Amino acid sequence: MAKDDQTWIPEPTDLEWIESLAAPLPPALAAIEREAEPEGIPIVSRDAGRVLQVLVAGRRRVVEVGTAYGFSTLWMALGLPADGTIVTIDPDDARTDLARAWWRDAGIPDDRITVVNRKALEAFADDDPALAGPFDFVFIDALKPEYGRYLEALMSRLAPGALIAADNVLWSGRASGARPAEASDRNTEALRSFDAAVLGDPRFKATILPVGDGLLIASWGG
Ligand SMILES: C[S@@+](CC[C@H](N)C(=O)[O-])C[C@H]1O[C@@H](n2cnc3c(N)ncnc32)[C@H](O)[C@@H]1O
Repeated sequence: MAKDDQTWIPEPTDLEWIESLAAPLPPALAAIEREAEPEGIPIVSRDAGRVLQVLVAGRRRVVEVGTAYGFSTLWMALGLPADGTIVTIDPDDARTDLARAWWRDAGIPDDRITVVNRKALEAFADDDPALAGPFDFVFIDALKPEYGRYLEALMSRLAPGALIAADNVLWSGRASGARPAEASDRNTEALRSFDAAVLGDPRFKATILPVGDGLLIASWGG
């Protein structure tokens, strides 16, 4: 049955209501939100974090491209089973050192999260041992023009049944054209191409959740 009002889309009140029903935010995640905002560190929205936490349930080996303060990393660590591990890549060690402290505050043992402080494409090209795989969950959230190449490099490192997620794929409405993009904005064009490539690729079952800035999710059969 179709919904009653075909014109309805969720409003801020709906999102606030969902958040009011959700489990309270763990203090370490609240601390990261507080610190990231004034520093202008871009992190996933809280609702996207909650989705990531649900999606990783039952997964064992996660790889993340783009750690920053470890907000998305921590959501995933809190959603994984106790033996689930994460490898997360970010060349900015000042950021990832802070992230480690928050992960510890949240009670995550160091050996469950490995940080690779390199540019992701260089680490993949060098076959960095930490990135050997197979991974059953991938989260992409670093340089927008490189999303397609991250996924390409990860394909040979995926376990059958792997799930892939990528943030910012709606790019505040600029990907679809709902909002205008600057002519010089390389990110919009890159994200449009990435979205079209993954959603049109018969190897994946994929869609975009209009959560936060747009969360692409794709399953890979192997
Ligand atoms: C959007 S932030 C990641 C936010 C994080 N996923 C979260 O939600 O908490 C993007 C991060 O990508 C990192 N980055 C920049 N260039 C990179 C590269 N070549 N490879 C991997 N990460 C890179 C930046 O240092 C930055 O911390």
